Amino acid sequence: MTMEYKSLEQVAEAVRKCKKCGLCSDIKNYVPGEGSAKSGILFIGEGPGKDEDLQGRPFVGRSGQILRTLIREAGLKEEDVFIANVVKCRPPNNRDPLPEEIETCWPYLEAQIAILKPKIIATLGRHSMGRFLKDMTISNAHGRVFRAKNGQIFLPLFHPAVACYSPTKLTVMRQDFLKIPKILEKIEKGLLAE
Ligand code: URA
Ligand code: SF4
Repeated sequence: MTMEYKSLEQVAEAVRKCKKCGLCSDIKNYVPGEGSAKSGILFIGEGPGKDEDLQGRPFVGRSGQILRTLIREAGLKEEDVFIANVVKCRPPNNRDPLPEEIETCWPYLEAQIAILKPKIIATLGRHSMGRFLKDMTISNAHGRVFRAKNGQIFLPLFHPAVACYSPTKLTVMRQDFLKIPKILEKIEKGLLAE
């Protein structure tokens, strides 16, 4: 990929002017993502919901409160992680984004990944996971570390929305999030490299 963007802010500016797919026709705000590369973790959700669309920020609604609590419980600061979505505009009535919408929006996420160079990409939910890791089920893959051919480490996690209706899932999610410091430590020590 040619690097069109030099900074996360440049990607965000491009997103805020984007008219490449139909999703932007009825939005209040674009949601490019926020945070930093400091901790080396990139969380990727699906797409903005109502609250995110209203505020132009990712994961600020009910699922967001859960995500942000779990991030803090894992000993991380919200401003040290980056939080993004597969599509940057809210799908109408919170429907799943269509494959062609995801495809059209993909270069922005690719650019964010290229700039952030995350140590861990933590996918939230099966749709986000499915874009990176093929032929896997979330019930089997969640909380496990996967290493792609290019060396990128992935940690599939449940989508925090599931924890809104299932306390059991919240417990499992918390266990998965609490693995993050250990995984980072292993990466630092080169123990997850091939
Ligand atoms: N759900 C998502 O997938 N992303 C958000 O930003 C908010 C809720
Ligand atoms: Fe552009 Fe992505 Fe919004 Fe579609 S969803 S208009 S590709 S920013």
